[in-house]
Amino acid sequence: MPLPQHVRIVEVGPRDGLQNEPGTLTTETKLELIHRLADAGLPTVEATAFVSPKWVPQMADHDTVLRAIRRKPGVNYPVLTPNMKGFEAAADAGAEEVAVFGAASESFSKKNINCSIDESLERFRPVVEAARARDIRVRGYVSCVLGCPYEGDIDPATVAHVANALYAMGCYEISLGDTIGTGTPLKAQRMVEAVAAHVPMDAIAAHFHDTYGQALANLYAVMELGVATVDSSVAGLGGCPYAKGASGNVATEDVVYMLDGMGVTTGVDLQALASAGRWISAELGREPASKVARALGAQV
Ligand code: HMG
Ligand code: MG
Repeated sequence: MPLPQHVRIVEVGPRDGLQNEPGTLTTETKLELIHRLADAGLPTVEATAFVSPKWVPQMADHDTVLRAIRRKPGVNYPVLTPNMKGFEAAADAGAEEVAVFGAASESFSKKNINCSIDESLERFRPVVEAARARDIRVRGYVSCVLGCPYEGDIDPATVAHVANALYAMGCYEISLGDTIGTGTPLKAQRMVEAVAAHVPMDAIAAHFHDTYGQALANLYAVMELGVATVDSSVAGLGGCPYAKGASGNVATEDVVYMLDGMGVTTGVDLQALASAGRWISAELGREPASKVARALGAQV
């Protein structure tokens, strides 16, 4: 299969990245990050999570963040909503897209959202129905698609089962999360093939963390199968509060550099993106995790 000519990047730094920071940034800094990312040409910037502040205190300002975004025409600002409480608050704050998040591992589901996989699907169903009634798009995440911090290897058939359930429920896209970044390219291909038996390829997104440095290789491998939506995080920010040792998502700068080099369009301005990455890294008191950002930074 020829590689896609265009890849849609879903920037998850303000949510997946910042949810795992030990310190909490001000709401103003989060908003500036979201605005800089949209200005760099990212078509989707996942903005925050309407989750319990007791579970993830870093996202406690979700309501203020979503209401205060200076929305750029054509840009989506989805937010996570694990249940009806989160959905209703997000919808009231003006969400046009939300995401529910399940897992292909029972233990991870329990640790992350305090319920079994089946219970989570039952919790998501009314969220998807309510969203559809209000013309709000719903994305579905599946975590631990290439390994679980508690259970180790995960059967691709389990991933396919959860992905299929979310798609059949009405999620327009299924994002497959290698939460702890243990995947390797051929495993990633087998897993996507299993999911693609139930979910159309153009409704599949790859959400790969880079803990073991495999994310770019895994992305290339699944692009060979036709995956054309990629989640990534500026400066490689991120992790998961319920997956110890998980490092950030693959860095958006690294993805854009690779795709630019292959002639695959994204609409993202690499210099503007790298500058946003250096800025937020400075706010966090660290270097960007992205090698591309560091290389470009050495030139400015
Ligand atoms: P629970 O304790 O089972 O929920 O948590 P509950 O319904 O029993 O409610 C307990 C308390 O939480 C109550 O407050 C509720 O009002 C409140 P209290 O009466 O004790 O004061 N509550 C809420 N508050 C705000 N917003 C809400 C909400 N719901 C209940 N939506 C729950 C269940 C799902 C809420 C909890 O487990 C939670 O918030 N989990 C979120 C965990 C999380 O955000 N994880 C990170 C995101 S997932 C991820 O990173 C993976 C991903 O990137 C893909 C990948 O990489 O694999 C997406
Ligand atoms: Mg993630």
